Amino acid sequence: MLASDLCPLLSEEGYEVVALSRTQLDITDASMVRDVVERVQPWCVVNCAAYTRVDDAEDEKDLAFSVNAAGAGNLAMTAGRVGARLVHVSTDFVFDGEKNVPYKEDDAPNPLNTYGMSKLQGERLVRDGTDDHIIIRSSWLYGPGGENFVRRIISKAGESEELSVVYDQVGSPTYTADLAAAVLHLMEEAPAGVYNFSNEGVASWYDLAYMAVEAARAKGVSLKLQRLKPILTEEYPTPAKRPRYSVLDKERYRDTTGTAIAHWVDALSRYVDSMWQGRRTGGGG
Ligand SMILES: NC(=O)c1ccc[n+]([C@@H]2O[C@H](COP(=O)([O-])OP(=O)(O)OC[C@H]3O[C@@H](n4cnc5c(N)ncnc54)[C@H](OP(=O)(O)O)[C@@H]3O)[C@@H](O)[C@H]2O)c1
Repeated sequence: MLASDLCPLLSEEGYEVVALSRTQLDITDASMVRDVVERVQPWCVVNCAAYTRVDDAEDEKDLAFSVNAAGAGNLAMTAGRVGARLVHVSTDFVFDGEKNVPYKEDDAPNPLNTYGMSKLQGERLVRDGTDDHIIIRSSWLYGPGGENFVRRIISKAGESEELSVVYDQVGSPTYTADLAAAVLHLMEEAPAGVYNFSNEGVASWYDLAYMAVEAARAKGVSLKLQRLKPILTEEYPTPAKRPRYSVLDKERYRDTTGTAIAHWVDALSRYVDSMWQGRRTGGGG
């Protein structure tokens, strides 16, 4: 999802982008990583690859760790060896959600699930692998390049009169187009270290669903949905536990890059607009 927004952006900015799929570069294969990176001799390696199926990770722990931890470490070590900067993307799920004010980069992580643990171990291996690293923690991604919550909700709202969505988990939704721009800024300008980035503002999954439906209706999309019902996490049990609160403090990002960050409602509306650009309305997106 992120890579499909980032690659065109980098090309537009004049970078020569070598975008590699899993078959072209399996990051869990250390010798493949070494061969490919040494052949390309990049100025920067951006790791958008990850095992992102948060619930499945509870049953596929080894695979999640192999991609999110060992894979990230392979890239970091090799980037360091060829003198390339490494940009690595991590997650709000490294935190336990027990705070009720936004998480700063230096707050103590304490992941609640396997995905978060594997991503935290990935951060550690990136730091050990190369000094010239940028770790960007982001949250609640959606965008045109993949399956995501916003797309799913709009699609279900086209089929069902009632939907239930959790309202006691709070975070910051992030449009991958905006995260891609943040990757560009940090890659070019920032000193090595950890940076939080999400869209501005705070939302529950219920808020995000509500605004997604409103944005689709504002585009003239006809939806069956009559009632969006707020429910508690305990009413929608999932294999992986999630933080109740995972809003990220973006002061370091804003200070470092001097750029403002769009509010999630604005970002969501741009995304929903893009979903129906050039299409007839009335579908599920
Ligand atoms: N999605 C979110 O809500 C969210 C939230 C916070 C942070 N993040 C982080 O943001 C980053 C981008 O996430 P995303 O949602 O854009 O991810 P995504 O859409 O799930 O894409 C991940 C990509 O990684 C590839 N991949 C998996 N295993 C690989 C391997 N061993 N070697 C090479 N490529 C491999 C996948 O390829 P296949 O499709 O072939 O498997 C897929 O193309 C990740 O680091 C993620 O942890 C995501």
